[in-house]
Amino acid sequence: MEHELQSLETEAREELSQLNGNSQLEEFRIRFLGRKGRFSTIMRQLGTVSSEDRPRLGQLANSVKKKVEKLFEEKSASLKRDSGTLDQDNISPDLTLPGRCPVKGKLHPVTQVMNEACQIFEKLGFSVAEGPDVETDHYNFEALNIPAHHPARDMHDTFYVSDSILLRTHTSPMQARIMEAQSPPLRVIAPGKVYRCDSDITHTAMFHQVEGFLVDKDISFADLKGILTVFTCEMFEQELPLRFRPSFFPFTEPSAEVDIACVMCNGVGCRICKNTGWLEILGSGMIDPEVFKMVGYDPEVYSGFAFGLGIERIAMLKYGIDDIRLFYENDQRFLSQF
Ligand code: DAH
Repeated sequence: MEHELQSLETEAREELSQLNGNSQLEEFRIRFLGRKGRFSTIMRQLGTVSSEDRPRLGQLANSVKKKVEKLFEEKSASLKRDSGTLDQDNISPDLTLPGRCPVKGKLHPVTQVMNEACQIFEKLGFSVAEGPDVETDHYNFEALNIPAHHPARDMHDTFYVSDSILLRTHTSPMQARIMEAQSPPLRVIAPGKVYRCDSDITHTAMFHQVEGFLVDKDISFADLKGILTVFTCEMFEQELPLRFRPSFFPFTEPSAEVDIACVMCNGVGCRICKNTGWLEILGSGMIDPEVFKMVGYDPEVYSGFAFGLGIERIAMLKYGIDDIRLFYENDQRFLSQF
């Protein structure tokens, strides 16, 4: 019997180590530890051994049974753990394992540059206003002196929601909205998303602009130059030469596109600035008297300037990024660099 008990332990140990899954485990339990199982059979045989041997063999049988029961419990716990049903009562976590550090989030580079631009203008006394992304044809075009069939509408590849509702193609509608609701003096910036049906390495269907405008008595082009000079110096953290290039926007007269000396080559000429030494960063001009008339301001009394800058474009120049689509691919390796 002694021998039988010992080989029973070895056998049980071996079977447990090889079995897989709960049904095999249950089958093992019935065969070894069940009422008609092998241990019960041995225990029944104890009655037939001599009374001298009985205590010793009884003890041995008990200790082997306890061992097998313990092995059975361990196997049962390990199967549970593997199948993901961790039994909190029986398994204590290993507190000595090193912790897993969560990845820290950051503001998106476009958001960072947007916030920075707003802060610079806020320091210059501008207040921040936000308006709707879904805009009417009236504010996006008509109120900015761009009537239906005006060729300037071609510049805006517009997403129309209906004949008169669209996704704003620029933040300039905020000029009309705010001037209509408030009277001068005004000094406002309007940051936000804009939409155009356009996509390549320098264009995405959605991008960000900051519109700015200032209306008061005796405002001149020199004021516009002053504000934009301060802005570009602060944004690019260096004193950059500015160039005002004559241009056309229906809502400003005169209009100018503003270039900065190329930040990549310091104006010498490179691939980024197409060997011109200059990079265009925004559109601007003196607010057209027609726009003033439409919002009920007297152009004989008030004058003002306006500008609109593209945030992605500024972020690309500031950080030397050559493909705008990188901003919207959500690749952690790209985003974590800012
Ligand atoms: N809205 C123009 C655009 O998206 C940019 C612009 C040009 C805004 C001149 C202005 C401005 O306020 O005066 O192309």
